[in-house]
Amino acid sequence: MTCGKCPRPIHHWTALKLEYLDLYLQAYATAAKSAMKRAYLDAFSSCGRCVLRKSGVEIDGSALRALRAVPAFTEYHFIEIDADVADHLRANVGDNASVQIYRGDCNEVIRTRVLQRGGLSKRAASLAFLDPTGLQVHWSTVEALSRHRIDPARGRKMELLILYPYDMAAKRLMAVKGRDRTSAELRLDAFFGGREWADELRQSQLKDETDGERRVRFVDYYVRKLQGLGYKYVLAHGPLYNRHRPLYHLIFASDDEVGERIMRSVMDSGKARWIEGEMGYQPVQRPLL
Ligand SMILES: C[S@@+](CC[C@H](N)C(=O)[O-])C[C@H]1O[C@@H](n2cnc3c(N)ncnc32)[C@H](O)[C@@H]1O
Repeated sequence: MTCGKCPRPIHHWTALKLEYLDLYLQAYATAAKSAMKRAYLDAFSSCGRCVLRKSGVEIDGSALRALRAVPAFTEYHFIEIDADVADHLRANVGDNASVQIYRGDCNEVIRTRVLQRGGLSKRAASLAFLDPTGLQVHWSTVEALSRHRIDPARGRKMELLILYPYDMAAKRLMAVKGRDRTSAELRLDAFFGGREWADELRQSQLKDETDGERRVRFVDYYVRKLQGLGYKYVLAHGPLYNRHRPLYHLIFASDDEVGERIMRSVMDSGKARWIEGEMGYQPVQRPLL
């Protein structure tokens, strides 16, 4: 089967993001093994396989990495908007009764299917990975995920690992002028869940903040919003860079002390490994803000 999009071509900085996910997934699977139900939600699954542009080496994407966690999650929910890519994902996953693959926009699918009866168990210890290419994740979706889980004994929420695309998307849309300004603002409204972002931007402009200061402001803003949903621990890591410039942050939200400890050690470990066959692979650079 070929559609020209699979395996997904990636650069080494994307491979690095997958490493963070991988390290956390494995530690999470171990820590959550006593839970009867364990769920993994991948809202931007792609086809499960990637190819490193530089070397042509194929590596697993997020969905297949999650499937390799030991012990396995008891349920997997994979969402992909592109029909061809979703077909490849089905082929790559094969027969697996614990996997549900949904095709469509993740905001819609999460609301109408994943969080409904027959979807993701409310009692499962659960982790959602939101890995968009831009501002696709609506704030209302994040809110809905945060409210889903019921664990009366422990009051835990679904853990979230979110690619926060400040530099690669939000910042650019904030700079749009002229005829496209209104549609840019509407997209930012959906992403941030209202117009408050515009006040943040105004304050930043009034104070004549540098690029770096504005980045910190908008990362802090999203972190505060997640805390406002009741997450006790919210960690922001980044920005992660391509060869030349910052692209995104990884933001983790949990109300579980163990989850927080694991993710902090993953983020602080500097365990950016060499990617097999990818000469010149560089670990993440932290910015001087
Ligand atoms: C950055 S890639 C995800 C990569 C994947 N997590 C991995 O590690 O292999 C984004 C994927 O999300 C899909 N996508 C884009 N917008 C989407 C949406 N609104 N809902 C669901 N999937 C979407 C794209 O077709 C693409 O395959």
